[in-house]
Amino acid sequence: MTPSPAPTARAVALALLCALFAGGAAAQNVAAERAACERPYKPQSGQEGKDVVWVPTPDEVVQRMLQMVDVRPTDVVYDLGAGDGKIAIAAARLGARAVGIEFNPQMAWLAQCFVRAEGLDGKVRIERGDVFEADFREATVVTMYLLPELNLRLIPKLLKDLKPGTRIVSHAFDMGGWQPEQKAKVAGKDVYSWTIPAPGTPAYAAAMAASRQ
Ligand SMILES: C[S@@+](CC[C@H](N)C(=O)[O-])C[C@H]1O[C@@H](n2cnc3c(N)ncnc32)[C@H](O)[C@@H]1O
Repeated sequence: MTPSPAPTARAVALALLCALFAGGAAAQNVAAERAACERPYKPQSGQEGKDVVWVPTPDEVVQRMLQMVDVRPTDVVYDLGAGDGKIAIAAARLGARAVGIEFNPQMAWLAQCFVRAEGLDGKVRIERGDVFEADFREATVVTMYLLPELNLRLIPKLLKDLKPGTRIVSHAFDMGGWQPEQKAKVAGKDVYSWTIPAPGTPAYAAAMAASRQ
């Protein structure tokens, strides 16, 4: 058998150019599809929401949140108050399955449209619902950017519904007396994380007590 000739520098350069062009065209296509999603409904940062306004988490903060709780392809990530779906989409890009819970039906529609534009239908589901009533028991990671009092109100549901070991990460707001395990400052924003403790442990009692403060 004769060995196949090594590719010439020219052939390699051509293949690289083709790959770059294809990548650029795909990115342009996603951008165009996302722009089409915003034609019927374009939200404004700071607009009213049921319990909290919509303000998107900056991209670098999203990345730090997901890194802090070590999101992996085996994870099921729930974003409580999903907005335009950006945290759920970022989690799916890391290989995880993700669900966003969003109360505003137009916002939930937009988030689902962005999910389709990104080609992540099979990985991300946006549910229109209220975080205080939603079923997120299957989560292995929960992400939040809500408000201090909403975090505290959610503690009993988080403790009751989530399996011990589930990681929680919050942008901007802590959980009062439930001390975070990790803290970081990213682009001037605070990020905190916790792990759901096992029932009956002092950590569980401390977390529950924090919700009553
Ligand atoms: C501060 S934004 C965060 C959006 C997204 N998680 C992010 O970090 O980019 C909060 C979102 O929660 C939604 N929201 C407010 N109250 C809610 C509730 N009770 N249930 C579900 N979503 C809610 C708002 O409509 C808004 O989109």
